[in-house]
Amino acid sequence: MSLSDDLRFEGRRALVTGAANGFGAAIATLLSELGADLVLADREDGPLREMAGRLGALHHIYDQADSRTIDALVSAAGPVDILVNCAGILVAKPLLETTAAEARHLVDVDFLGVLHLMQGVGRSMVERRRGVILSIGSQTAFCGAEGRGIYAAAKAALSQLTRTAAVEWGPAGVRVLCLAPGRSLTRMTAETARPGYEGDRGLARVPLGRWGTAEEVAKLAVVLVSDAASYVTGETVIADGGFVLG
Ligand SMILES: NC(=O)c1ccc[n+]([C@@H]2O[C@H](COP(=O)([O-])OP(=O)(O)OC[C@H]3O[C@@H](n4cnc5c(N)ncnc54)[C@H](O)[C@@H]3O)[C@@H](O)[C@H]2O)c1
Repeated sequence: MSLSDDLRFEGRRALVTGAANGFGAAIATLLSELGADLVLADREDGPLREMAGRLGALHHIYDQADSRTIDALVSAAGPVDILVNCAGILVAKPLLETTAAEARHLVDVDFLGVLHLMQGVGRSMVERRRGVILSIGSQTAFCGAEGRGIYAAAKAALSQLTRTAAVEWGPAGVRVLCLAPGRSLTRMTAETARPGYEGDRGLARVPLGRWGTAEEVAKLAVVLVSDAASYVTGETVIADGGFVLG
């Protein structure tokens, strides 16, 4: 099979969370162009409907902090071949300023919600003996994450969860991966990626000298969930312009 055949997704159903904006929207757009049948999920009704309409995809509103709505999403989506976990939030605060409620909510959305969705989708992938799960982690999981401590801890937990799921579900032919982007220009980073932001050492730490883009993340994500990466599992692939090296 050729590389270009490996990058086609006809006949495959992909569930993309956080699909109303940013990375999720870019990944959904690329998967749609490459032939995938899509189910898009998010908590934001208006932009999600618009995205789904544009791509001719199904859509479902849910809240990743609420396990009942995640169960409803799993039922509504039906068996999927690909799950891409993009839905997430950021708390950009130093540790000493982060409240317990903020920390708990972030862990609910960025870790426990992803775990719950992975369990729901993974169970049917293991039964059907096929599937790929990709979660969007973060470069912050690999360094002292100035001003993002709880977020970084939740993303590090996601990388570890990825390893265990890959080991437990690999014998059933299910691959599980994590993609850890550096700071990229999306709504989430509208404040921290703007020129002149002084909340951390920022851009000065990026050897490639610029922030990433949603399109760059989407291209790598699509390769990772495609058959071009059929022997890769359990890994967290970092795409950060070299940030964690410095
Ligand atoms: N932008 C970056 O620099 C960057 C870097 C590394 C990792 N990430 C991660 O990438 C993922 C996507 O981020 P983005 O930059 O595209 O941000 P974004 O804010 O543009 O998109 C995030 C999406 O998740 C949805 N979402 C948030 N909370 C939700 C909830 N409780 N239930 C359902 N949906 C919810 C939002 O509605 C939104 O559509 C996140 O997990 C984020 O942590 C982003």
